[in-house]
Amino acid sequence: MTMIGARKIIGNRVHLCPLDISDSPIYLKWLNDIDTYIYLDASSLLINSEIGNNLFQNPPINGEQMFSIRLNSDDTLIGNCGLIKIDNINRKAELGRVFIGEKDYRNQGYGTEGIMLLLDYGFNILNLNSISVLCCSYNNRAAKSYAKCGFKTAGCFRQAKIINGEKYDENILDILAEEFLGSPYKARLNGFLA
Ligand SMILES: CC(C)(COP(=O)(O)OP(=O)(O)OC[C@H]1O[C@@H](n2cnc3c(N)ncnc32)[C@H](O)[C@@H]1OP(=O)(O)O)[C@@H](O)C(=O)NCCC(=O)NCCS
Repeated sequence: MTMIGARKIIGNRVHLCPLDISDSPIYLKWLNDIDTYIYLDASSLLINSEIGNNLFQNPPINGEQMFSIRLNSDDTLIGNCGLIKIDNINRKAELGRVFIGEKDYRNQGYGTEGIMLLLDYGFNILNLNSISVLCCSYNNRAAKSYAKCGFKTAGCFRQAKIINGEKYDENILDILAEEFLGSPYKARLNGFLA
């Protein structure tokens, strides 16, 4: 059973929808897959079914908004993305748990489209001013995707990631509302707000 039809933010090829507890086994598989967790803050976490189910808390953890990424064509669940550390006073947030878990769907633009939809929601619905993301220096594919979305390098945490005896920097990327290009919301909301 999947949450078919709940399409919160709709793009050309994918949409973002609320997480559904029935998808928990798929998330458990993804978050325990080295080809996914090595790029997230999950390498050293043992994510079992109890912790996995906590990801699907309803209402969601305060200060977080998490979404599944699904194909428009047939609602196939392919990944996840979300906003964490939402700070309504300073109007900023971080991207968190961004991944295309179904690896056959990577490198086809789906992740970038999902991130763009999330930025659109963050800037134009949540009224955020700044959205940042941490990206390990060895994650060139994610860096490319973030650059395509308009993220710029804001700095780096030096040697913030230690794996296999090697130290890697964690790059800090960010994008401001005024820099965000392309907004399906603006086009769609014009019809409702006219
Ligand atoms: C990062 C991620 C969400 C991006 O989504 P995606 O759908 O794969 O991204 P896209 O296809 O839009 O773009 C990826 C780009 O990286 C390029 N790329 C792929 N492998 C690369 C590599 N090793 N080095 C540099 N660029 C690479 C692709 O060619 C593509 O660029 P192009 O559009 O110019 O051809 C997805 O790849 C993923 O889930 N990765 C594993 C988890 C992860 O890294 N999460 C981010 C944590 S910060």
